[in-house]
Amino acid sequence: GLGPEKVGVLIVGLDNSGKSTLLNRLRPKKARTADVVPTIGFQVESFLKHGIQFTAFDMSGAGRYRSLWEAYFKDAQAVIFVIDATDLVRMCVAKDELELMLRHPDLRKVPFLFYANKSDVPKCWTALQCAQALQLDENKDKPWNILASNALTGEGVEEGIDWLAEMIK
Ligand code: GTP
Repeated sequence: GLGPEKVGVLIVGLDNSGKSTLLNRLRPKKARTADVVPTIGFQVESFLKHGIQFTAFDMSGAGRYRSLWEAYFKDAQAVIFVIDATDLVRMCVAKDELELMLRHPDLRKVPFLFYANKSDVPKCWTALQCAQALQLDENKDKPWNILASNALTGEGVEEGIDWLAEMIK
């Protein structure tokens, strides 16, 4: 299986935020997909691209699997945090999960890329509105960036990866 030692970039977010859709855009066509289920209910998806191991999992389940996902923090060089910009009801849940992550000692200096995803949906929040809701400007010690994205078409996705690649090279 894929151990935490191979992790480069973590892709996280609540369920339904668009992680799998995003991953499918990033995944090279011929890449092998590794779907690892270390324990029931906690699914990890991972693939290698340009020497970067992308690993994704979702943070729902009220932190039931927190100890499992925290095992991946140690070797993370960057984090992609996918926000469902249409899910205003759960924006505070995303904020709580994010705060725990930002506070984690293993991720102190790690750059964070945020996707305000589903930007094609009329009622969605803008990247700026998401940034304000998540109080991103309080992160003064680490590089971060937020971009509106549409994981279905790929709009905004490459731009984010380019930024991230600059940060971790
Ligand atoms: P879990 O598998 O539950 O963890 O969700 P996930 O975060 O992997 O989200 P997933 O990629 O399965 O996307 C959830 C739903 O949102 C699907 O129906 C996607 O087609 C849809 N979706 C994802 N990204 C976008 C987007 O940018 N715009 C729109 N309109 N729909 C999107």
